[in-house]
Amino acid sequence: MGCHDAKHSIAFTAAKGMPHIDHYEAVGMETAELRARLEAMDQGKKERPLLAFPEGETVGSASCRSCHKSEHKGWNKHPHAKAMETLGADAGRVECASCHATAKRYGGMGAAPASLDELRLDEGVGCEACHGPGGAHVQAPTKDNIVHLGESCPVCVLEGICTSCHTPEWDPTWDLDRRLDALPYGP
Ligand code: HEC
Ligand code: HEC
Ligand code: HEC
Ligand code: HEC
Repeated sequence: MGCHDAKHSIAFTAAKGMPHIDHYEAVGMETAELRARLEAMDQGKKERPLLAFPEGETVGSASCRSCHKSEHKGWNKHPHAKAMETLGADAGRVECASCHATAKRYGGMGAAPASLDELRLDEGVGCEACHGPGGAHVQAPTKDNIVHLGESCPVCVLEGICTSCHTPEWDPTWDLDRRLDALPYGP
């Protein structure tokens, strides 16, 4: 708990982390299965359960606009906001929309959405795809009911959030500093 604090780890609890350091899990595994897991990790395709946002429903980027006008303006001009439009005819494929849209709900084990019904198809990569579910924050805004990234350790937290979509397959030249500079928020 001394390392997985709010600055370095999102919504961490020991109960959430423990199952993922089970050293005995590999004992009963076939070589092929073990290799598949290592390859998934290498290719950035492995699920990252510790990265899961706090549990909750998303409310959509439009709900953030009234209080965060300049962030909304910057986001709205960024390719993230247009990410569903970019998909064109592929917008109906959940395997594409899963990275090009915001989920309706976050939390759990960070599993990929199974159907389009689980996604907000109207706003691309919205505020809550990076800041987590904002329902409670919109009702009564404090710094503690939204993932406020400005104070997090960039390489610990931001790198993980960004590369859950900016995988080696889709963004082979990924570089955190360069990509952060290109976001419409000054670090
Ligand atoms: C009713 C006004 C209001 C709405 C709507 C609102 N916020 Fe906020 N937000 C605030 C206020 C006020 C703070 C500062 C709270 C504090 O410092 O205690 C804040 C803080 C934040 C922070 C932390 C900033 C920092 O300095 O660390 C983030 C991130 C954030 N909001 C994102 C969002 C997102 C995303 C949405 C939409 C889901 C949203 N907000 C909707 C008023 C609002
Ligand atoms: C939910 C998935 C998702 C997350 C999380 C995400 N991105 Fe993206 N990002 C995308 C997609 C999809 C595009 C392409 C949008 C388009 O062109 O339609 C993109 C595009 C971008 C671009 C524009 C690239 C260009 O060629 O113009 C930048 C910069 C960027 N992302 C930075 C970041 C950073 C920095 C983070 C983390 C703080 C992040 N992204 C998190 C999915 C995501
Ligand atoms: C793992 C997340 C992820 C998935 C799944 C995904 N994309 Fe993307 N996509 C991205 C990111 C990140 C970018 C931005 C890459 C950049 O700017 O370098 C992007 C960019 C794009 C672009 C903009 C042009 C380009 O190549 O930079 C198109 C078009 C696109 N994706 C189509 C698709 C289609 C079609 C699918 C489904 C077959 C899909 N994407 C699935 C993450 C993803
Ligand atoms: C691609 C991920 C991403 C998206 C989408 C995104 N943000 Fe952020 N946001 C960040 C990062 C990263 C920071 C921290 C700034 C930094 O260090 O560069 C941040 C910072 C903030 C802050 C604090 C600003 C400050 O001056 O400290 C607020 C408020 C905020 N975002 C609100 C929003 C709102 C509202 C939206 C949607 C309109 C949004 N963000 C969309 C990644 C994102």
